[in-house]
Amino acid sequence: MLWEWANENRHTAINRTPIPRDIHEEWFKRKLKDPNCIIWLLDNAFESLGQIRYDVEDAQAFIDISVVPRFQHYGLGKFIIRQSAGMLLEKHPQVKALVAQIRSDNSVSRKFFASLGFRQTKAGGVEEWKIGITQ
Ligand SMILES: CC(C)(COP(=O)(O)OP(=O)(O)OC[C@H]1O[C@@H](n2cnc3c(N)ncnc32)[C@H](O)[C@@H]1OP(=O)(O)O)[C@@H](O)C(=O)NCCC(=O)NCCS
Repeated sequence: MLWEWANENRHTAINRTPIPRDIHEEWFKRKLKDPNCIIWLLDNAFESLGQIRYDVEDAQAFIDISVVPRFQHYGLGKFIIRQSAGMLLEKHPQVKALVAQIRSDNSVSRKFFASLGFRQTKAGGVEEWKIGITQ
């Protein structure tokens, strides 16, 4: 499922090349073992609606988030970030900022992170947007 979502969202990714299944599986096994990586899914009673991954590097946590297309723009993305940020701090209290790396042509994501209070800290083809967090 995560592999399918990753490829469905490839147009929003920094690297747009489709990901072969075997490469994804190797990557996923590595991520599951990585203590600095957290992946959470948002489910309802029937299916998964979205996912968030945090890759923690010292005091920063890099975000990868996606919501299944037919559930987008109902507030789920905001819900996922707000709920998961507290859970992230419980596991990694040293984290002081969340960072999103966004393609500059991904205007939905730019609006999404801006609506949550993230501010742009790096320009270019791949922008960085950040927000400070505290416990
Ligand atoms: C980015 C993404 C996670 C947002 O999730 P979502 O559940 O649709 O977002 P929400 O419904 O919580 O929207 C929150 C805000 O984002 C902005 N937004 C979301 N969808 C938008 C759209 N289609 N057009 C314009 N703004 C939009 C709005 O500002 C919205 O606030 P509002 O409802 O008060 O106007 C989702 O669009 C997605 O999965 N995109 C593909 C993957 C991706 O680009 N991930 C980000 C890279 S890390």
